[in-house]
Amino acid sequence: MESFYIETYGCQMNEADSEYMASILMSLGFERAENLNKADIILVNTCSIREKAEKKVLSFVGRVRPFKEQKNIILGVCGCVAKQEGEKLLGKAPYIDMIFGPYQINKLPELLSRVKSLKKPVIALDDEACFQRDVNALVYPGVRAFIPIMQGCNNFCSYCIVPYVRGREVSREEEEILYEVKRLAKLGVKEVMLLGQNVNSYALDRGVKDGFVSLIEKVSKVEGIERIRFTTSHPKDLTDSLINAFGYIDKLCPHIHLPVQSGSNKVLSLMNRRYSREEYLEKVYKLRKVCPEISITTDIIVGFPGEDDRDFEDTLDLYKQVNFDSAFSFKFSPRPGTKASNMTNIVPEEIKQSRLEILQELQKSITYDKNKMLENKILPVLIESKSKKNEGEFVGRTPCFRVTNIICNNVKSLDMIGQIVDVKILKGLKNSLKAQLVNGD
Ligand code: 5AD
Ligand code: SF4
Repeated sequence: MESFYIETYGCQMNEADSEYMASILMSLGFERAENLNKADIILVNTCSIREKAEKKVLSFVGRVRPFKEQKNIILGVCGCVAKQEGEKLLGKAPYIDMIFGPYQINKLPELLSRVKSLKKPVIALDDEACFQRDVNALVYPGVRAFIPIMQGCNNFCSYCIVPYVRGREVSREEEEILYEVKRLAKLGVKEVMLLGQNVNSYALDRGVKDGFVSLIEKVSKVEGIERIRFTTSHPKDLTDSLINAFGYIDKLCPHIHLPVQSGSNKVLSLMNRRYSREEYLEKVYKLRKVCPEISITTDIIVGFPGEDDRDFEDTLDLYKQVNFDSAFSFKFSPRPGTKASNMTNIVPEEIKQSRLEILQELQKSITYDKNKMLENKILPVLIESKSKKNEGEFVGRTPCFRVTNIICNNVKSLDMIGQIVDVKILKGLKNSLKAQLVNGD
């Protein structure tokens, strides 16, 4: 049987797209290859949000080239870099067979047959965000499924390339999402992650207010689904009604990823984020009032053009006030075509690097302290898999999304996977928790 291998870079949206491509390929009779050098079709699903994206893609396809010389492999590049670079990629890697944008995945069968019959590269790019998803084709192996509920973004944060490569916001029909969730629940999925660049504005493109809260309420009524998460939320669109949902929808997990990007009002305004640090802090306060155990995670950019020492101090101050559970921090990188790429007052690389290190050190110690504070607590963990590293251990996540390794020496059965079990936290580590089954061995 012929097989495929998909390499995925970037966000969870890309992971969801890669899963969808895998399902399509399986429905065409291909199987997943154990590794890259065994595959007959190799796809690289790319991300252009930060620098070096194109380099990364070219280095990956360069690795595939020797296999291509040995056998007849089809090599495809898809996702945001494919959309952004298009045909130009062929100038650098003429052996690529397919280049297709993020909204062409449905056409994968047709693209493959065109490559086979034309014997020349096939290029399929797109402008408009859209949903063409055959929900019945989807195969889900795990306990958690990613469900895209909207595509594109209308926000044009001045540093961000997403609105240019993914187009304007388009929300998926509610009935279709619910159909997909019900189907997944029957296949054994226990947790859904609702995905979009800015899920808080779900259905606003159809003029529906608070459509996201109403969607979560409906998803929470689906039998078999035990946990609901979502990402990503733009703070400016985080409404009181969504905040309140954390108080009354039991299945909604106490975790929100709320990218702040900077703690300085001057920088936030240059970034076109359309909220102030005070407004952000107020939303954090409200979230914790409604749901005291909520875990709040964030994204931060350091070294945005014009960010001076005082601005960075403001970011550190906000960091300390919020006490994020974890954070992804990035050095600003100019993206082609964005407003920020033409801004002056560029921050030198060494300053960017030192600010990044300061933030990351601070976050490491906050995350560690928070994990330590959970020691001896009993928490419900959804078991996802057997541990690859340690025999007799299973891996799962707490409601707050903390990775937890659970010692269960007397439990060998894979029936554990997909169950929510109470565990006692034995140790808070730097990036995870160690626990023991309650009433177990
Ligand atoms: N430079 C650095 N970081 C960026 N991000 C988005 N665009 C850029 C850029 N040009 C970060 C933001 C965003 C995360 C997904 O990537 O923090 O939230
Ligand atoms: Fe990019 Fe801003 Fe849209 Fe997020 S909200 S995808 S950072 S433009």
